Amino acid sequence: MPKRTGLVVARTRREARDWHKSQHAAGKRIAFAPTMGALHDGHVSLIKIGLEKADAAASSIFVNPTQFAAHEDLATYPRAEENDLQKLEAAGCSFCYCPSPAEMYPAGDSTRVMVKDLAHILEGEVRPHFFEGVASVVSRLFLHLRPDVAVFGEKDYQQLLVIKRMTHDLGFGIEIVGGPTKREADGLAMSSRNAYLNAEERAQAVAVSRVMFTTAAKLEGGEPIRAATDAAKAELLAAGYASADYVEARRADTLAPFGAETCPVGTSGRLLVAARLGKTRLIDNVGFVRR
Ligand code: PAF
Repeated sequence: MPKRTGLVVARTRREARDWHKSQHAAGKRIAFAPTMGALHDGHVSLIKIGLEKADAAASSIFVNPTQFAAHEDLATYPRAEENDLQKLEAAGCSFCYCPSPAEMYPAGDSTRVMVKDLAHILEGEVRPHFFEGVASVVSRLFLHLRPDVAVFGEKDYQQLLVIKRMTHDLGFGIEIVGGPTKREADGLAMSSRNAYLNAEERAQAVAVSRVMFTTAAKLEGGEPIRAATDAAKAELLAAGYASADYVEARRADTLAPFGAETCPVGTSGRLLVAARLGKTRLIDNVGFVRR
């Protein structure tokens, strides 16, 4: 297994197993932050959260084909492995699993993990293949690496809830932790896909977080949900977005609709936004509590 100064890079599930066995034999707890690479400060923050929760931090870099539809950006998804490994090493990560598609999905593979209900709303409606791909790859990563804790960014809030549901239902015995969204100075949520934005789009992109924060403030103040989210969609279109897939205020724990005209006082909500700017699809979300 090739070894850098402080970071072991593994390509096979056997190497991953040898590593987790050696860590557990030494009495170390493993924290795991899976990624698809093209790392930014948001990913680095997940490694740091992992190190607060366990003795050794592990990550993975795998652009997972099963979570992309045929018309999506699998071929063009940014790839920068050497740069990513340097960032992981600098963050204190001691292990990175970089399997090939054939290692992750062996020839003839036909097994998938499907989470019902939660995985079929919001992102699951717009990208029906997505959560089955995520649940399938994350369950395999969990089996190959056997972490004690796994850290996922709140930037993909619905994904975090889907993983929590799957981990509980399948009895993995792994603690799932959410890491706060990291933002650029102007408020845009960090994302590997921000690299797709040209200069003009990058300037327009900030509207998604600006509109999201002002809409969450309206909901906290008791403005009717539909009026606030319709106004948010109109603002995004006025700011140059081609379309808004959704702007939805939901219960933070289940993502179920509130079923009322305004959010109930004291209940935790999550405002979730997905919108398209040129060829790039941006998603963001924020928590709020109605006063
Ligand atoms: O959030 C991501 O980067 C991916 O969906 C994940 C969790 C690494 C699975 O491929």
